[in-house]
Amino acid sequence: MSADGHSTYQPNTSFERWIDARLPLPRLLYDSFVSYPVPRNLNYAYTFGGILMIMLVLQIITGVVLAMHYTAHADLAFESVELIMRDVNYGWLLRYMHAVGASMFFVAVYVHIFRGMYYGSYKDPREVLWILGVIIFLMMMATGFMGYVLPWGQMSFWGATVITNLFSAIPLVGETVVTWLWGGFSVDNPTLNRFYSLHYLLPFMIFGVVILHVWALHVTGQTNPTGVSVKTKQDTVPFTPYATVKDSFALMVFFIVFAYFVFYHPNFLGHPDNYIQADSLKTPAHIVPEWYYLPFYAILRAIPSKLGGVIAMFGSIAVLFVLPWLDTSKVRSAVYRPLYKQFFWILVIVCIMLGWLGSKPAEGGYVIASRVFTAYYFFHFLILLPLLGLYETPTQRPASITESVLGKSGKGGSAAQPVGAAASPETKA
Ligand code: HEM
Repeated sequence: MSADGHSTYQPNTSFERWIDARLPLPRLLYDSFVSYPVPRNLNYAYTFGGILMIMLVLQIITGVVLAMHYTAHADLAFESVELIMRDVNYGWLLRYMHAVGASMFFVAVYVHIFRGMYYGSYKDPREVLWILGVIIFLMMMATGFMGYVLPWGQMSFWGATVITNLFSAIPLVGETVVTWLWGGFSVDNPTLNRFYSLHYLLPFMIFGVVILHVWALHVTGQTNPTGVSVKTKQDTVPFTPYATVKDSFALMVFFIVFAYFVFYHPNFLGHPDNYIQADSLKTPAHIVPEWYYLPFYAILRAIPSKLGGVIAMFGSIAVLFVLPWLDTSKVRSAVYRPLYKQFFWILVIVCIMLGWLGSKPAEGGYVIASRVFTAYYFFHFLILLPLLGLYETPTQRPASITESVLGKSGKGGSAAQPVGAAASPETKA
């Protein structure tokens, strides 16, 4: 695809011409992943979208094979997972790839989201792209939660009990909703069955929303670290080989970390109690969700009332939907926003602190700290962002992407000493 949005695909063989006139899928793929123009200054933070796509496919493949050996029944589920680990050929690998893969998927999505916040990716005209992302995030959280219930260990059971019970806080219909979710009067076999069904379904729905996400991305084009829009053809490079090679390199590094955990610390992020079969008569001392829910869990428990906690927890995600309208700054990238840049890093630290607090018992100083950080989280989005955009003085932005990369001369390096000057015939003379 050219920078003006026109297809540059040229079918060469007679078969390519034949299929192009009937179902131009090769054209679509060529225009989207080969000739597609991307800003020439994308950094490694922009490789996580591609990594997420690969991770989603990997989760689906390992999940489908696991499902061939797993039994969704309260009496058999725990044992069937042990069977996968011990008796199925490479079952241990499949399971660890799927379980560690879920964590890695969330690592990637958090980097992807915070990258978006740093570079103002959610701003006009990418609001829909961002909102689709938040929908994907919510669906990922639901999928991860239901997946964790399937091994039917102690944390599966009690985590499911705590989280589903939250819905009982809804006035008037709360209890009815919870009974409906459970398919009975407690978390039991019908709950396991419906969670299994939905855990299988949701990733395919995520896949569908990802297609919309990437479609929206290809309509607006990508941002870039300067936040300055693409103006000329010189500002872009074709997706292949430039982005393909960069994405592949980042993916390989990501996979090395992934493999390290799969092969050396597969249970690092899991909870030991989940190796004990679910027992409805023994409540674990501390019920903790998986690490990627911990900041939200801390917000939930920071509020003294159950309903208030649930509202705050869902509110912490709801603010993300309206983020494009809360940030009033006309400048997109944090690189040129000296104050926002600092508040961004404070927010990152606050989220990490909330995550840590979510893993601690809800008592004493931990609760007080959770309240302070929860208040700050909402302050950041609801008060700071709208005001900052009005009062902050941004620093000078480059006139174009090319200028930011090659300097004002447009020939590389600083204007005083252009890179490659010696080799260039014009400057030699
Ligand atoms: C399965 C999950 C996801 C997949 C596969 C995915 C895929 C992608 C891809 C391939 C890109 C382009 C490359 C890049 O910029 O990294 C992208 C960009 C983007 N994504 Fe996602 N994404 C996912 C989740 C999310 C979430 C949860 C959000 C936000 C809440 C989000 C927001 C965005 C935004 C705003 C952009 C545009 C970035 C820019 O051009 O500045 N995505 N996504």
